[in-house]
Amino acid sequence: MKKFARIIGTGSYLPSKVVTNFDLEKTLNTSDDWITARTGIKERRIVTDQSTCDLALEASLKALSMAKLKPQDIDLIILSTTTPDKIFPATATMLQDRLGASCPAFDIQAVCAGFVFALTTAQQYIENGSAKNILVVGSETMSKIVDWSDRSTAILFADGAGAVVLSTDNTTGIKHSKICSDGSYLSSLHVNNNGINELGTIQMEGNEVFKIAVNRLSDLAEETLKDCNMTSEDLTWMVPHQANIRIINAVAKKIKLPMDKVIQTLDKHGNTSAASIPLALDEGVRDGRINKGDTLLFEGIGGGFSWGSILLEY
Ligand code: UT7
Repeated sequence: MKKFARIIGTGSYLPSKVVTNFDLEKTLNTSDDWITARTGIKERRIVTDQSTCDLALEASLKALSMAKLKPQDIDLIILSTTTPDKIFPATATMLQDRLGASCPAFDIQAVCAGFVFALTTAQQYIENGSAKNILVVGSETMSKIVDWSDRSTAILFADGAGAVVLSTDNTTGIKHSKICSDGSYLSSLHVNNNGINELGTIQMEGNEVFKIAVNRLSDLAEETLKDCNMTSEDLTWMVPHQANIRIINAVAKKIKLPMDKVIQTLDKHGNTSAASIPLALDEGVRDGRINKGDTLLFEGIGGGFSWGSILLEY
């Protein structure tokens, strides 16, 4: 009998420090009007002294609680992050220790597409029967790799974490997933470090990234719907990576999805990279918009480039 990977718990966590567009006006040549109009972001959360693992732990505990599982019930932890706390060990293994779990744990790095890559990887372990319950986390402290004097990126990126518990189900769950990469776009969106002893900062050709994001994400969404014999009318919600409201609008328009079927958290969260999809998902679940049986589409694209989509029954 086919096994499905189904989300049975969600959780998220945001650091308490709020940085508004008005706060950024004080240090950058920018304005609330420009940021709101060009990105949809009004405020974001930034860590003061918390690590990527600290954020991941809080989100994971909430997801485990919703799933009614203990850390010992988890067979595998996959954590997607662009901002690991150390070069090694993986942030996932530090999370495993702090949770008191004893399962294998590893990190995945696909920047803003990281959560889609992690969920797709977890799906394989469940479908082939080698894991029953998997904790999948997206956690980021992007503020550590932002050049706070660069107005084109400092206004976008933010910190946060989201997590899901994926469990084996005999009837439904993830129906379609696809991940893609094209490393020839390194210069469009990358971190400018030279080797492992240097942290570096985010460098982005915003305009180019914008156009490619719209095209790649809408093509992939159309392909996903076609492969599933669906149209956008069959979607209950799209839960996209939260990078820019104009990218989300353009993708929704291309696939003929009304914006009232899109979960948006960009205004309050900014771009939290691998954390943005599980953060938006958790918000939609906890405020009652997303319910069991809903058909959801996740999609995201990130640095240099990696992108992907997942269609699932929640
Ligand atoms: O997470 C996945 C990866 N990232 C993305 O998906 C981001 C994709 N790109 C974007 O979201 C947008 O390209 C940005 C928000 C980064 C920039 O918006 P844009 O509409 O593409 O602006 P632009 O780069 O074409 O710049 C337009 C003008 C420029 O001034 P001039 O040359 O026309 O005088 C910029 O210097 O806006 C200026 N500008 C700003 N002005 C005020 C750029 N950043 C700012 C700013 N405040 N923060």
